This record gives sequence, C-alpha cells and structure tokens, in this order.
Amino acid sequence: MTSEFQSVRDWDNNHFLHPWEGLADIGENDRTFVQGGEGIYVTNESGDRFIDGPAGMWCVQVGYGNAEIAQAMADQALAMAYFSPFNNANSVPAALARTIADKTPGDLNHVFFTTGGSTAVDSALRFVQFRNNVRGLPEKKIFISRQKAYHGSTYLAASVSGKERDKGWLDQATELTYFLPDVNPSLRADDQSIESFLEEKAADLENAILTIGADKVAAFIAEPILCSGGVIVPPAGYHRRCLEICRRYDVLYISDEVVTGFGRMGHWFASEPVFDIVPDIITCAKGLTSGYVPMGACIISDRLIDDVSGQNSQGAIFSNGFTYSGHPVSAAAALKNIEIIERDGILEHVRSITPLFEERLKALGRFPLIGDVRGQGLLGCVECVAKLGAAGNKNDADQLELDKSVGYRIDEHCQSNGLILRPIINMCVFSPPLVISESQIQQMFDIIEKAIKLTTDDLLREAPAR
Ligand SMILES: Cc1ncc(COP(=O)(O)O)c(C=O)c1O
Repeated sequence: MTSEFQSVRDWDNNHFLHPWEGLADIGENDRTFVQGGEGIYVTNESGDRFIDGPAGMWCVQVGYGNAEIAQAMADQALAMAYFSPFNNANSVPAALARTIADKTPGDLNHVFFTTGGSTAVDSALRFVQFRNNVRGLPEKKIFISRQKAYHGSTYLAASVSGKERDKGWLDQATELTYFLPDVNPSLRADDQSIESFLEEKAADLENAILTIGADKVAAFIAEPILCSGGVIVPPAGYHRRCLEICRRYDVLYISDEVVTGFGRMGHWFASEPVFDIVPDIITCAKGLTSGYVPMGACIISDRLIDDVSGQNSQGAIFSNGFTYSGHPVSAAAALKNIEIIERDGILEHVRSITPLFEERLKALGRFPLIGDVRGQGLLGCVECVAKLGAAGNKNDADQLELDKSVGYRIDEHCQSNGLILRPIINMCVFSPPLVISESQIQQMFDIIEKAIKLTTDDLLREAPAR
C-alpha cells in the first residue's frame, strides 16, 4: 500500500462521516475501499475481486462499468449540464418523465423528480399533506407506517421509518406517525395459520385508522417488501387487503418502491404485477439510474392532481422542490439505463433466474445457524441464531452480543472467498446486480454456504471458552 493511499485512508477514517457512523469508532473503522467494478464484480484497493452481493445498496441493476451509461452522461454534461427546473424545462428529463409514466400502473402519470429515495418519500408525504390542506382537511395529517420499515433519512422520511434501533438518538416528527406491528409471518405462533395472520395484519391497519380517526389519517406508506428491515415479505394478499381498507376510509396508499422498482422483482414496478395493487403514489430511486448518478422520483396519480389543480387549486403552490429536480445528466443516465434494461431483456432475465435464486436461498435454512430465510425476486436474507453448542455457558448479554456479530462474521468469511454481503446485525442481506447469470448465482450461494459452515465452526470452537 502506498503512503499516499494510506494517508487517504487515514483521512477517510478520521474525517469522512459515513452514513450511520458509529461515533465511538471514528478513526478506527478501516473500511474496504471499493475502487473499481465490472459487471457483477467490484475490486478493492489491493485489486482483489468480489461478487457484489448487495449490488451497491440494492441499486446497480445493469452492473458496473457500463460504457453506454457513462457515455450518455458525458454527452449530456457536454451538451447541457444543468438548467433550473424551477423556471425552465428540458427535453431529456421531460422524456424520462413520459418513459416512467408509461411504466407505472393505472393513472400514475405525474412525475416529481427528486435527488434520491429519501427526498422522493419526503415529497410524497408533503404532497399528501398539501393536498389535504387544499381540500380543506388540515387535520388529516397522520401517516401510518410499520415496524421495521425504512423510508429514508430526511426528517419526514426518517419519521415514518420504523426500525427501532434508528430511533434512539435523532428527533422525529412523532406527532405525525403511527406504527403497525411487524408483518413478518415467521413471527406468528406455531398454531396460527397464515390466513389468520393475514387477517390480524389487515385488522391492525383498520383498527389504527379507527383509533386515530379516519378524519386524521392522511396516508399509509409501505414498502412492498420491507428491505432494509431484513427483507420481510408480508403474507400473500396483504397489500391488496390494506389498499381496500385505505380506500374505505379515504386514506391514501403510498407504495415505496425505492428498492423493488426497476427490475428487482422482474418488473418495472412490483406494485401491480406482483402485489396486485394500484397505489395512489409510487416512490422510486436507486435502480432508476442503476446507481450511476443520484436521482429519485415520486409518481402521483392523475386523480390526486385533479383534486388540487385548475379550479380546485385555490391558487395553491406546491412549494417543494430541489435545485437538482430532473437533473439532465441524471435523466440521461436513467433513460439509457431503461433502454438497456428493455433492449437486453433484463426483466425477463430476472424472472427466469429467480426460481434458482429462491431455491438456493431456501436451502440455506438447513444450516442450524440459520433461524430464518426470506426473500422474493432477487432479494434475499438469512437471519442467524448463534445458539450453538455451549448454550448453558453463556449469559443473555453474551448471547445477544454473539447474535449481533454473526452477520458480520459470515460476511467476513464471504469476503475471504470473493463475495461481499450486507450484514445487518444478525442478518445478511443480498440483492445482486440483475445481470447475474445462473452460474454466478450458484457461485454466490456456494460461497455463502461455505461461509456459514466456517462461521459455525468458529462458534463451536469458541463455545467452551465462553
Ligand atoms: C424503501 C426505501 N425507501 C427510501 C430509501 C431512501 O433512499 P435514499 O438513500 O436514496 O435517500 C431507501 C434506502 O435504502 C429504501 O430502501
């Protein structure tokens, strides 16, 4: 390692505040530097090559090093790098808005561009509040969300996120939110059927609306699959039931497709083809540009816009927007990305390889270290239980620490064997680039299996000492 690289690494460790930075670790982190990428692979600072299990952060759909997207961005930067979306328009984001609206279900045809997923969610929530103000319903402002949901890191988007361990140190708009219990079917009692669990989860939403008062509830926001919360797949029919309940009480349904949009489940958007719903608003980001450049969008139904436009507008202005709303370089990247996904049949490819992915994922459940496996489409998660061997030797605090570290231990063994995963506490999550081949899927799961075995061996070896 050159001394110049070491000094950059020191700077990163000491001064680059990364997302979700644990402040106790400042100066100590020593993260892997991801310096290059091609296809489904990334390379680190030493030139070692890894399969990128999480596709960056669930986003690099078409893989790394795509010259066509890079060229489209370069061409656009030279032709016209930036215009003010407040006062002017440009044909590239305008064409992208039309392309997106063509792919959304129902009458979701109004596209509001943002800088990423959080700002897409924030804009959706603000639009919902705005609409109720214009409709003369200023009390109808509460958002219903769910435990384990993740919707972003701006103030409102973070406020509707339901991951408990993110709630400790930052303020939230708690007066605007209500959280439903976890929808993970594996948490149900042994003697509860999946049908009765579905009834219970639907009733949770209806009861919440009745308890708060329908006149106060503005919207229900839901990821089709709760991704960062650990790839939680609600029982079949859940979203359909929730949408029906929302319709009954004049509550809007926001489908947060920041992860599931743009091919992860084999479709442009998962809401209609996979979950049988046409929501009122869809939010997306990530796969929209395959992560090559930041961009998000909030897509609103014509019906909602009609309610608050023209003669119904009362002269209102939706005072929400960003310097980079509809940035032309991002829009050029998104258009090229969509063209590639279409031309190369990537959605069909995802649908054809998903059965193998799901089969290999399910098979991981046979290892004693694995408590639960979950997933759908090219989204997978293993949840570990480290209760192996010397169970009697450990007190609860030790057990908790051990459970927490298992995801990281598996990821370490994966990295030594050429695969990066995303460890989250006692879970490992993976969502590879959509262009992954069948043999690469086999290779990826072979490495995960090896890493699970190695981690199990480590734990059994360490057990007598604890
Ligand atoms: C479902 C969902 N919504 C919103 C976001 C926030 O997106 P961003 O990080 O681009 O702001 C994320 C990020 O992971 C997400 O998973």
